[in-house]
Amino acid sequence: MKLWGGRFAKETDQLTDHFNSSISFDMRLYKHDIIGSIAHVHMLGKQGIITLEESIAIVNGLEALLKDIEAGLIEFNEKMEDIHMNIEALLTERIGAVAKKMHTGRSRNDQVALDVRLYARDEILELKAFLKSLMETVLDLATAHKNTIMPGYTHLQRAQPITFGHHLMAYFEMLRRDYKRLDFAYDNTNYCPLGSGALATTTYPLDREAVACELNFSGICENSIDGVSDRDFCLDLLYTLSTLMMHLSRFSEEIILWSSHEFHFIELDDAYSTGSSIMPQKKNPDIAELVRGKTGRVYGNLMSLLTTMKGLPLAYNKDMQEDKERLFDSIDTLKMCLPIFTRMLATLKVCEKNMYKAASGGFTNATDAADYLVKKGLAFRDAHEVIGKLVLHCVTHETSLEELPLDVYQSIHPIFEEDVYEAISLNTCVQGRMVKGGPSASALGEHFEKAKAFLNTCEN
Ligand code: ARG
Repeated sequence: MKLWGGRFAKETDQLTDHFNSSISFDMRLYKHDIIGSIAHVHMLGKQGIITLEESIAIVNGLEALLKDIEAGLIEFNEKMEDIHMNIEALLTERIGAVAKKMHTGRSRNDQVALDVRLYARDEILELKAFLKSLMETVLDLATAHKNTIMPGYTHLQRAQPITFGHHLMAYFEMLRRDYKRLDFAYDNTNYCPLGSGALATTTYPLDREAVACELNFSGICENSIDGVSDRDFCLDLLYTLSTLMMHLSRFSEEIILWSSHEFHFIELDDAYSTGSSIMPQKKNPDIAELVRGKTGRVYGNLMSLLTTMKGLPLAYNKDMQEDKERLFDSIDTLKMCLPIFTRMLATLKVCEKNMYKAASGGFTNATDAADYLVKKGLAFRDAHEVIGKLVLHCVTHETSLEELPLDVYQSIHPIFEEDVYEAISLNTCVQGRMVKGGPSASALGEHFEKAKAFLNTCEN
């Protein structure tokens, strides 16, 4: 018999049970469902809505049930539709009729909203811990490569010399913002919907604040209709995770490029790469590719829930049951991607010589050569023109600015002197960029300090 079977004259079709049921995926909310029910029942007892004895009997029964579920002793039943009704039915089997008082002054609509918020809060804390450890790894690697010169790119064309540390710290900044977005998602999740009832609260004298306080929420959902129909907190998290995946995906893309034979800037550790079943020479960056690939499903989850929500009239509609798989999938995906990505990064080998060679080859010091002329009194536009001619000369003669003899320089403009070689050395190019945010050791050192200070503010 269904918990809502009173109004029905016949059994539901099996297909209906299967179609309607969410237990196969919302069973993972069992702990949060029970914790939420315990807080609710405590409050019912304190408010005299049920007797204290009844409240104690229900709470004891719920605690025992939680233990048995954790011990793997419980099987859920599809006929009971979802986790909320499964728990209530199991409790009734165990402690008898008093269990039926648990749902007084509550609806599954506010119950499910509560469970998902409790669940999301816990998961956000775990995600933050994973993200923090990735940020630490990025910072460690950047610190080790403070002076490792590499070409910086625009349009995937070599542009100006930078250091690997400088490049990595760009990712640190993206991840730092992701961390803050997780905090934002947490804050929006941290309101208690319980007491909203089906949509219009109830006539029992519920103490919503007491329940919110017992469950460590920062407050209650102020409007009961919003309390049961709001899934913004899920979308905030899905958006945050999408952005985080976008960052991991860009990073992955670079790792894939850098580990190619053509770049050969890095070598992935054997433990975090794979071989080919036919080509014996291959070492493939599968992890980075999978992270890049999984970005699609995380974006999809965001679009999927946005679309589910877009036409829903207030308040609860069963469409909203679709929130959970999307949310779970994105959370699960990030919980897989973050730690393995971190390990892959922590163990990769940097081929400093190849990075340096690439930075030397592609006229990455051309801007600095123009700046040299500006320092000698030329206007930047004229200097740009002169260096452009020199680059063209180098391209036709297959040489580089560093290797060009002084008389060639002087044949294009008499102002060039011997000191041009020092001015365009890669080291000068990098170390001369002392502007805040730049690649010089001094600017980068300042950024490291700020990054460390940020990590110290991250809990756990
Ligand atoms: N399984 C449902 C969900 O996930 C629980 C709420 C059901 N409420 C209802 N009135 N049918 O949304």
